[in-house]
This record gives sequence, structure tokens and C-alpha cells, in this order.
Amino acid sequence: MAEILPANKALEPALALLRAGEVVAIPTETVYGLAGDATSGEAVARIYEAKGRPRFNPLIAHVSDMAMAKRIGRFDPLSRRLAQAFWPGPLTLVMPMQPDAGIHPLATAGLDTIALRMPRGFGAKLIAALGRPLAAPSANTSGRISGTTAQAVAADLGQRIRLVVDDGATPVGLESTIVKVEDGRVRLLRPGGIAADEIEAVVGQRPERGAKGIEAPGMMMSHYAPKAGMRLGVERVLPGEALLAFGPQRVANEQNAVAVLNLSPAGDLREAAANLFSFMHELDRSGAAAIAVEPVPMTGLGEAINDRLARAAAPRDVVNGD
Ligand code: TXA
Ligand code: MG
Repeated sequence: MAEILPANKALEPALALLRAGEVVAIPTETVYGLAGDATSGEAVARIYEAKGRPRFNPLIAHVSDMAMAKRIGRFDPLSRRLAQAFWPGPLTLVMPMQPDAGIHPLATAGLDTIALRMPRGFGAKLIAALGRPLAAPSANTSGRISGTTAQAVAADLGQRIRLVVDDGATPVGLESTIVKVEDGRVRLLRPGGIAADEIEAVVGQRPERGAKGIEAPGMMMSHYAPKAGMRLGVERVLPGEALLAFGPQRVANEQNAVAVLNLSPAGDLREAAANLFSFMHELDRSGAAAIAVEPVPMTGLGEAINDRLARAAAPRDVVNGD
């Protein structure tokens, strides 16, 4: 069962866990977050595992100051204005990611954009002390409502995490508003703790619902799709194919593959999740006609891994609902 510690006693224990690649439930002004080091694939895999997410949705990277934010995201003038007006606070800004941002690809689900937010209170102190951004989805099992008290979080996730930091009921009580600036227009991807009116008052335009080319919550599969075709659940490699292997049991004709990467030679799904997006990119860059993928079991994180593989294998220009 997770330990519940008051915020004024939790900084050092939380830091120790985060430095070890573990996850910690922390209070923010919106809802409690299930936080892990956004630069660590292992930590991010643990987040998805603890949430029981059937798929990898991109996560918000939480920062403690503007300097950290600018190392991660490329701010346009409107996004900068919004950050100045509402940070720290319940606004998340989606923007292009800096090439050397250091965010693990599992945290962005392979996207080249990043959702950034500067929270208030304990979270900000923790991030500043860690010196690294924290990836944090709402602290609830996938499909359940977001936790707004430490007790609710412990009741939901307590068996799967070690520490819940208690700072009382979250003042806002619902998730952050997510916006993305595109071609000088502010698009509303998710309504939340900052009202559209408040945004309009700052930028002089009313946020429009939805985004050009759909990117509300992890929907458009072509973002994740490699250029090479994908063939799943293979037992043999065909000429010209690269092989994305999993586990110790290998396909018989592996030597025919133009390139081979193994998601986890030991068959560890957490390791496989952490490697998934970077290995797909790497095999894509090998110039192979197609990527043949060995079967990955449907247990634990395997469900999310298989979801992403299936989306990557889907015909291009198909929108997959989320
Ligand atoms: O208030 C909040 O935002 C809380 C606290 C913990 O910060 N976090 C939260 O995270 O609600 P989560 O993972 O439950 O929701 C984040 C949303 C998801 O719907 C995800 O699809 C979207 O943000 N998102 C993340 N990165 C994105 C991106 N690059 N483009 C579009 N949407 C993105
Ligand atoms: Mg959520």
C-alpha cells in the first residue's frame, strides 16, 4: 500500500523515488498527477503501467520555470503570451518540441510536439529540485475519474505505487485547459481549468474548438506511423524487411532482415514500452521496405504496445478514434 505523506515532509522521499525511476502521486492545482521523470523511458513506462492505460497517450511535461520550458518547447509569440498570463496555473500549451529537448519518446508517444504546463505549489518545488521535467497524467486508473484528494488517489492506485504526496483537495478540481497555437490561431484541444473567456481576454481571440488535422488526444495515427510498412505478429522475415523483435524466442530467418532491433531480449514489457517509439524510428531510418514485428503478448503494458503497433500498421490517412 502506498504511503501518504504530507507535502511539507514529502520533498526528499519523492525526490529519491523519482531519481530511482519510480513514480509518485503529487498534488497540482488541477488534479493529482502520477509523476515520473519525463526523460526516463523506464519511469514513463511505469506511469502507463500504474494507470493501466490500454494505449500510450502523449503525456504533459510539467516544468518549474520558463528556462526549462524553453529548452523543451519552441514558443511562438502567442504561446509566450499565454504562458506569461497563466503560468504557473491550469493551462497546458502544445507546441513543436526542441530537437534536443531530452523528453523520452514514450512520454510524447512518438509525436514531435510537446504538451507543456507549469503547475503551482508542491509540483513546481519538486520539479525545480529534481532539475528535470515531470511527465504526469492525472492520477487515476485509466477510465476512472481523476483523483482530487490524496485519499482518492491512494484508494485507486495505492496497490501500484509507493508514495502519495498529500496537500489536501486540489483547488481547481478539474484538469488543465489544453490549447495549441496554429497559424496564429488559438485552438482548444481540451476545455479545463482556464475558461475560453479568460484566454480571449489575453490574446484578443476566442479559442476555436479542435485542431487543424485532428490532434486532440492521441487520435491521428499517421503521426506515429513510420514510412515503412508494418507487418505484425510475424514468424518469418520477408526480403527487404527490418525486424522488430521481442523476447528471447527469435524468428528462424532473422539473418535475412536488413536490420534487427529487439524491444526486450528478456521479454520485459516495461523495457519494450520504453524502446518502442525510438526503435520504430530507427528501423524506419534503415530504409527497409517494411518493418516485421514479432508477436508481443497482450498482458500488462503489452496491450498498449499492441495498440500502438496496430495504429502504426493501419492504412495511412485513416483517423483512428481514441
Ligand atoms: O491538469 C492536468 O492537465 C493534469 C495534471 C496532472 O497536470 N494532467 C492531465 O494529464 O490531465 P492527462 O494525461 O490525463 O491528459 C493529458 C492530455 C491527453 O488527453 C493527451 O492526449 C493530451 O493531453 N496531449 C498530450 N500531449 C499532446 C500533444 N503533443 N498534442 C495533443 N495533445 C496532447
Ligand atoms: Mg486523465
